Amino acid sequence: MVRFVNVNNLSRWAADAGLEPLLRDLTTAIEHQFRRWESFDKTPRVGSHSEHGVIELMPTSDGITYGFKCVNGHPINSTRGLQTVTAFGALSDVDTGYPILIAEMTLLTALRTAATSAMATRLLAPPGATTIALVGSGAQSEFQALAVRATLGINTVRVFDIDPAAMSKFERNASALGFDVTLCRDAEEAITGAQVITTCTADKRNATIIADDMLKRARAASGGAGLHINAMGGDAPGKTELDIEIVKRSRVFVEYPEQTFIEGEIQSLPRDWPITELWQVLTGEADGRDSANEITIFDSVGFAIEDFAALTFLNDRLDGTDYFEHIDLVAEPADPKDLFALVAAKTPATSR
Ligand SMILES: NC(=O)c1ccc[n+]([C@@H]2O[C@H](COP(=O)([O-])OP(=O)(O)OC[C@H]3O[C@@H](n4cnc5c(N)ncnc54)[C@H](O)[C@@H]3O)[C@@H](O)[C@H]2O)c1
Repeated sequence: MVRFVNVNNLSRWAADAGLEPLLRDLTTAIEHQFRRWESFDKTPRVGSHSEHGVIELMPTSDGITYGFKCVNGHPINSTRGLQTVTAFGALSDVDTGYPILIAEMTLLTALRTAATSAMATRLLAPPGATTIALVGSGAQSEFQALAVRATLGINTVRVFDIDPAAMSKFERNASALGFDVTLCRDAEEAITGAQVITTCTADKRNATIIADDMLKRARAASGGAGLHINAMGGDAPGKTELDIEIVKRSRVFVEYPEQTFIEGEIQSLPRDWPITELWQVLTGEADGRDSANEITIFDSVGFAIEDFAALTFLNDRLDGTDYFEHIDLVAEPADPKDLFALVAAKTPATSR
């Protein structure tokens, strides 16, 4: 029997654990898997692109457990009353090949993406950061703010979204969580005074959410202080958020270069452009922030090892709980070579 975690149970699991403790633990779990980076099979995700979006398959294995996520990205969906991103995923036992878990991953993706941003922010943010700017206040935004508060204690959020309803929704949710929220007129006002910026917009084009001169003015207002940017909304070919001039004069940190050069902010840069792999900062093989004043960018696209970490973290925490049910997913005939018996048993004798 395979464990199945539906949306209701995933929501209960997360709420009962407490979102901030859960995000803190998930951040640690993702860090743990990033430190074992070399144990994993790695491949850029396989995307099926269409006019309005993409459906992607994200597999990996550590030789003991295999995991995959199937996820979509359809920025147009909000105009149809649908979500931009939905996902589900699974784990299998490498030894037998049998599946062991199937889970909803729309919520789990929001949690793991926020925890991954928190991991990068903890590694790279300038010391003493107190304020985060969120540009884009859609489905991912509250999770992003919570994970950074859970790991770094940052409680002040400046937010801008082109959709006033999304900003009001964020203000309502974040104020109830005790955040000090400022709604801003534009992205420049949001980023001014923030030491951490997370861009989480959805647009199927090479958008310029933060322009170079906008960032220069914002930094001048803070005396040229250091900055960390989590650029997480640009995650597909032809879908970026930052002015490329900002990327060129910053230190860029990535998940898996082979995927990020296809999907990330660096997609228009040559393949030998200097980047640093986040896992190497965690293991001490590469430097993180060099100076208090530099700009660091986490060019986040979302990589399979983060989903593997989230699924294994979830699966470990299911033992002894009622947050899952067993489903009859794998055909198991008494005689493994007599698969036909399962159909024969349901077939009326007259039609055999
Ligand atoms: N890197 C990752 O691992 C990862 C994981 C999940 C989602 N994503 C990406 O993150 C983005 C956000 O996802 P979501 O689920 O929150 O989407 P969403 O559609 O719920 O929210 C996106 C928000 O961005 C706003 N927006 C669009 N253009 C803007 C602009 N120019 N300035 C300010 N706001 C703008 C929209 O109004 C919307 O409220 C998507 O692009 C998604 O593909 C990345």
